[in-house]
This record gives sequence, C-alpha cells and structure tokens, in this order.
Amino acid sequence: MEDGRLIAGCGVAWDGENVMDQIRMGVIGCTGRGGIAQAWHKPGGRSVVVGAADVSEGALGWFKEHVNPDGFVTTDHRELLARKDIDAIAVTSPDWTHEQYVCDAFEAGKHVFTEKPMAITVEGCDRMLRAWLNSGRKFMVGFNMRYMNIFRVMKDVVDSGEIGEVKVVWVRHFVGHGGEWYYHDWHAASKYSTGLLLQKASHDIDMIHWITGQYGVRVAASGGLDYYGGDAPNDLRCPACEKKDTCVEFQDVARAAENKRNLCVYRQEVDVEDNSVLMMELDGGIKATYMQCHFTPDYCRNYTFIGTEGRLENLDDNRRVIVRLRDRSNRWKNLAHRDVEVKPAKGGHGGADPLVCTDFIDMLLNDTRPVATPLAGRMSVAVGVTATQSIRNGWAAMTVPPVPEDIRDRVF
Ligand SMILES: NC(=O)c1ccc[n+]([C@@H]2O[C@H](COP(=O)([O-])OP(=O)(O)OC[C@H]3O[C@@H](n4cnc5c(N)ncnc54)[C@H](O)[C@@H]3O)[C@@H](O)[C@H]2O)c1
Repeated sequence: MEDGRLIAGCGVAWDGENVMDQIRMGVIGCTGRGGIAQAWHKPGGRSVVVGAADVSEGALGWFKEHVNPDGFVTTDHRELLARKDIDAIAVTSPDWTHEQYVCDAFEAGKHVFTEKPMAITVEGCDRMLRAWLNSGRKFMVGFNMRYMNIFRVMKDVVDSGEIGEVKVVWVRHFVGHGGEWYYHDWHAASKYSTGLLLQKASHDIDMIHWITGQYGVRVAASGGLDYYGGDAPNDLRCPACEKKDTCVEFQDVARAAENKRNLCVYRQEVDVEDNSVLMMELDGGIKATYMQCHFTPDYCRNYTFIGTEGRLENLDDNRRVIVRLRDRSNRWKNLAHRDVEVKPAKGGHGGADPLVCTDFIDMLLNDTRPVATPLAGRMSVAVGVTATQSIRNGWAAMTVPPVPEDIRDRVF
C-alpha cells in the first residue's frame, strides 16, 4: 500500500478505503494528438485530466484553455509523475519520446496509455514491456483504427468465416496530404521516427495483424525518397521562403502556438521514404502486401482480404464493404455477393477516439482487457522497423524479431 490513491494489483481501482469510480489522469504532450485529453476530462464522470507536461509553454497554455483551467502544468514530466493524486498517464508526445516517458511512468507506479507507434525501435518496445510487467500496472496502446466501424465490420466478416480461410491480404495506402502531415516537421527525419513504414504504417500493419489474427514473421520491403527531401536548409520555414507564392507544398498553418508544421519539405535532413512496398508472411502462413505513397492527391486506405471462399474489400468512402463469394455453378455471371453498409459514428477518427478513451478507463475501473494490447503495439513496431531495415538493405528478406523468451509468456 502506498500513500494517496492506489490501484490494487487485481485491477480494481481502490483509494485505500473505497472502490474508485473515477480515474485521475495526467497527459504528456498536450497539443496535436494530446487533444484527446478532452475526451478523458469529464468532471463528475469516470475520468478527469488533472495535470499536463509538455516542453512547450504554449502547449501547456492550450491545455489550461481547452482541457482543465485548474490543472497542474509543468515542463518537467518528472514533476507530473511525482504527483500522488494521479493514477494514470497518457503519453501523446512524438514517437521518439514514448519509450522514456512510458518507462518513467511505470516506475512512478502509474497506469499508462501510449500513442502509436509504441516506440521507434524494437529494443525500446521490449524495454517498455519489461517496465510494464515489473510495475504490476496496466498498459494500452493507441491503435484507434481497431475502434473504427469500417474495420470492425471487416473483422466481423473475416471472423464469421464467410470468405473462408484468409490466405492473402492486399493493402494500398494513399496518404494524400503526405507533405502537409509528415514532411513539415519531425516525422520526416529518421532519427525521430525511424521511417514512415513504421510511423504511419504501424496502424495498417496492426490492422493486418488484428483482422487476420496472425502476426508478421518475415518481411521484405522496397521504397524510396522520390518526391520530398533535397537541398533546402534545415531551418527554412515556408513563410520565409522566396518560393512561397508558387510552391505546391506551402504550409502556413500553426498547429499550436510554438509547434508550427511549416519546415520546408525539400530540406536536407529529410531522409524517410515517401513511397514503399512491403511484403510479409504471417505466422499462420498468410501472405500480405502493404503499399504506401505520400505524394498522391487523395487520402484513402484500401483493404482486400482474399479467402478460400471469397473476397472482402472496403470502398473509398468507408461507408461500405463488399463481399464477393466463389460460386461453382455461377462462376462468372451473377457472382454471389453482398454489400455491407457501415454506420457513421461521431467523434475524432471516425468515432474511434472516444471509444479508445472509454476502453482505457474500462480497463482501469472494470478490469477489462483493452482491444489494443501492448503485444499488438510491439509486433507492429517489430514489423515496421524490420521492413524499414529491409528497404535500407536492398530489399533483403528479414525475420521479424519475436518477443524475447524471458517475457514471452506474460505479454498479451
Ligand atoms: N492514433 C492516431 O490517430 C494518431 C494521430 C496523430 C498522432 N498520433 C501519435 O501521437 C503522437 C503525437 O503526435 P502529434 O502529431 O500530436 O505530435 P506533435 O508534434 O503535434 O506534438 C504533440 C505534443 O507533444 C509536445 N512535445 C513535443 N516534444 C515533446 C517532448 N520531448 N516532451 C514532451 N512533450 C513534447 C508538443 O509540444 C505537442 O504539444 C505521435 O506518437 C503520433 O504518432 C496518433
């Protein structure tokens, strides 16, 4: 037993005398993705966000204005973690910071939610898993695509057996706005993100894992930096550029007071592939491909699952999936098929964000297992990192590192 609020190892929230019905949270990284703190801050409800840490004073000001005016704020995350009145931490800062913040939070006895990708290296993930297992606390990864209706419908179809045993998966990812979202800031430098086949594709690699129920074991990938990057100075920002009136990548949007995504997309430090092709084999024998391009005009994710009995695909608008079935008697005409309407949902990322937040709080208050597990977070990183190494080693076929033996049986 420790001072103040504590959570019993059995998963029941407990404050020393009573079963708790409200989780008190702190967030590290307040603006950008940190905005989901708004969905957790429900005074009088099941969770409140009582503190925040960020390297940016402007971001902390945003937190005060938009989340909790009375919240504790600090530029030193250790001060946030030292607070006894905080049960759980959400890490929503950039990718390369997750490993340290998550490990520190577990050491401080907090439950943890971390954004995807779990870390930028496999070793980083395994360190986080050990910190989690040693802490006796709870851990969830922010794979919000698992909560989107379109992918839930696709998983239901696969799980129902309607298309038979899945043998092949093809995913095409058209990252329209690739420059706007990924090349104007830290995402574009491998020292901060490893690469976009990890940073961006971690969601899609996870979707392939989740919907098939199998994890990647062997990968080979190709890719290039064929549109972005170049000779521009690393500190050149769009508003100061002499080509600002003609450049198609011009960006003058301030994401937050001190966090502008307007570095030149053609600067020298840009070193992450803007197009890639991944081939992988899953542990049950399924063959999967994933293709990503950041200089396409439109944004869409197209998923196809082909099984022994049929094919499943989502359409561009994400409101419908189609199921086409093999039919011996009617091979070419009147192909047996059905279209499944996908219900729209309210909230960020197609209604997924509020569900992610609820799942985290359910895990803490009701001892439920989250849809997005730590093992899923680790395996998505393991595939993304290994595939990036494959690209940078001439399309070498590589084995995805399994979870280390000493923790394999305890990680889920
Ligand atoms: N699941 C999703 O749909 C989704 C969507 C967007 C981003 N993300 C993830 O969320 C994370 C944040 O992405 P973002 O685009 O919001 O990033 P960002 O650059 O906008 O930064 C988010 C916040 O973190 C702060 N920050 C930056 N460096 C920090 C540091 N060293 N320590 C503490 N705070 C720091 C920033 O000031 C900002 O307030 C990333 O890991 C990203 O992959 C997930």
